[in-house]
Amino acid sequence: MCGIVGYIGKRQAYPILIKGLKRLEYRGYDSAGIALITEQSGLQVYKTKGKVADLEKHAEGKDISGTIGIAHTRWATHGEPTSTNAHPHVSSTGRLAIIHNGIIENYAVLKDQLKEKGIEFHSDTDTEVLVQLIDYIRTKKELDLLTSVRIALHQVIGAYAMAIIDKDNPDQIIAARQSSPLVVGIGDGEFFLGSDASPIIEYTNKVVYLDDQDIAVIDRNKENVEFVNIHNETIEHEIKKINLNLSQIEKGGYPHFMLKEIFEQPESLKDCMRGRVNVDLNNVVLSAVIDYRKELINARRFIIVACGTSWHAGLIGKQLLENFCQIPVEVEYASEFRYSNPVINNQDVVIAISQSGETADTLAAVELAKKKGAFIFGICNAIGSSIPRATQTGCYIHVGPEIGVASTKAFTGQVTVLTMLSLAIAKARGTIDIREYEELVKGLNDIPEKQKELLNSCNEKIHEISKIFTYARNFLYLGRGYNYPVALEGALKLKEISYIHAEGYPAAEMKHGPIALIDEEMPVVIIATKNALYDKLMSNIQEIKARKGRVIALVSEDDEKVKALADEYIELPKTLECLEPLLATIPLQLLAYYIAICKGKNVDQPRNLAKSVTVE
Ligand code: AGP
Ligand code: GLU
Repeated sequence: MCGIVGYIGKRQAYPILIKGLKRLEYRGYDSAGIALITEQSGLQVYKTKGKVADLEKHAEGKDISGTIGIAHTRWATHGEPTSTNAHPHVSSTGRLAIIHNGIIENYAVLKDQLKEKGIEFHSDTDTEVLVQLIDYIRTKKELDLLTSVRIALHQVIGAYAMAIIDKDNPDQIIAARQSSPLVVGIGDGEFFLGSDASPIIEYTNKVVYLDDQDIAVIDRNKENVEFVNIHNETIEHEIKKINLNLSQIEKGGYPHFMLKEIFEQPESLKDCMRGRVNVDLNNVVLSAVIDYRKELINARRFIIVACGTSWHAGLIGKQLLENFCQIPVEVEYASEFRYSNPVINNQDVVIAISQSGETADTLAAVELAKKKGAFIFGICNAIGSSIPRATQTGCYIHVGPEIGVASTKAFTGQVTVLTMLSLAIAKARGTIDIREYEELVKGLNDIPEKQKELLNSCNEKIHEISKIFTYARNFLYLGRGYNYPVALEGALKLKEISYIHAEGYPAAEMKHGPIALIDEEMPVVIIATKNALYDKLMSNIQEIKARKGRVIALVSEDDEKVKALADEYIELPKTLECLEPLLATIPLQLLAYYIAICKGKNVDQPRNLAKSVTVE
């Protein structure tokens, strides 16, 4: 899941590329590198293990001139995260330099073949095979770069977004895409490349999203980018105008993107509901439910496919859809689903949930379900990304770019869309009592204000609580009903950024095993609001206390009983039971954030992770 950037034009490429890499660093930060074609020294490649800031130090005092360049920030799949394995990779002749996001699955076979032909390799990456293969074809057959790239791509199996430059042609970048995202930015006499639009928007709002098998030929002397496919057929692409502003992708005064994104939730949920939830008319309107009414209301079954946090949102979606629409729902890990042999027919609706819209497993699950005849509905955040383009219809969550690697506002956005979807379908099917529907519309509309109130009331307290619990090596998170997936999500957040082992469980399941772990050292976070299962939750808390566990409870404002029992408590504003996840999630995000901060961890870029998992 690397980030790739490219520039060709009138300006100096280096500062544009470095800034672009910083914007894409969320995609991977094992190593960073840059290749420039400078007038004085020709092809210059600087690369180093570590982050973009390390690359800047490494390039200090060196020749960083040039108006063409490509740059990369890596999340290693093949070969350790060393400086040697960092991209760009240069072919043995020294002519070509490549950056790549994805995996060349048949790299080992190709590597052996090229070695037999006398090509020497310098890294352990799959990517190097690609550049060596292209250069081998180019020299052997005396072909131009585009033709060599096309021929090579016919031999390659796997995923790639890649850009390549030739030291002897400082006027051209060739870029290609298969399964990994790639955007070309079109400026005035200058062109940009990015894994997403964030490195581009400062300079132009005109972009083209490449499709699979597209190759872009970017020439500084031409007014437009030419697109062909690997069969050399010309492809016409519409230039899209994007509405993304810089403040959306900057920290805006917060120390970390994650904290900014947690605090953004009241606003981002308003954006998510804008034009969809109307309290004056007591209504929820989703265009997808209007346009595809027949497919959605007659669905025999919903199958939700997703990974990680999005999968947790899916578990809440299951309860919402089943409760209100009376349609059975299955929730599958996309990575398992794609390799299973699911029984699917054309009355099934598959809902793919993905913040990035690029998760390789979710995309593959969508393709499989499509092949089997299901109707596909996407719930994504990144506009124009691969999953929304692969689905028949869907609903963007519209929460703005999420940059912190740990997903926060996307989760509440996904749950909000799932709530709106359930309400819209339920109303169309007549499976919901109209008074309940109206109460829910109002309840949903009130959520942003309640989130604001909650953020104000709990932030400092959670900061204090977090200091007490940094000692912990394990954590247990418990919840029931709608709050069970919230417990899973809370545990995932803590694991991801503080590296503390945490497990989420349905509270009542605790006695079937995890209770054995409880002693005076074990913090147990329990979502124990006054809902239908309140009495059962009270008993669960008693069971923990009887074993001296330390209870951090999320409680309803007016609940004195749980407050008295818990070691620490955080009050949640009152809302309808099915909307509680939209509130209960917030303190758990903050708890994970502050514990990680107390432990001195890098919350925005936790070790071993990357924001979008575009590889298997
Ligand atoms: C969330 O904090 C994670 N970093 C991760 O589990 C993420 O939710 C998962 O990789 C799915 O990503 P997607 O929503 O972009 O498809
Ligand atoms: N496979 C390449 C590498 O390991 C790119 C990785 C990626 O895009 O995640 O360097």
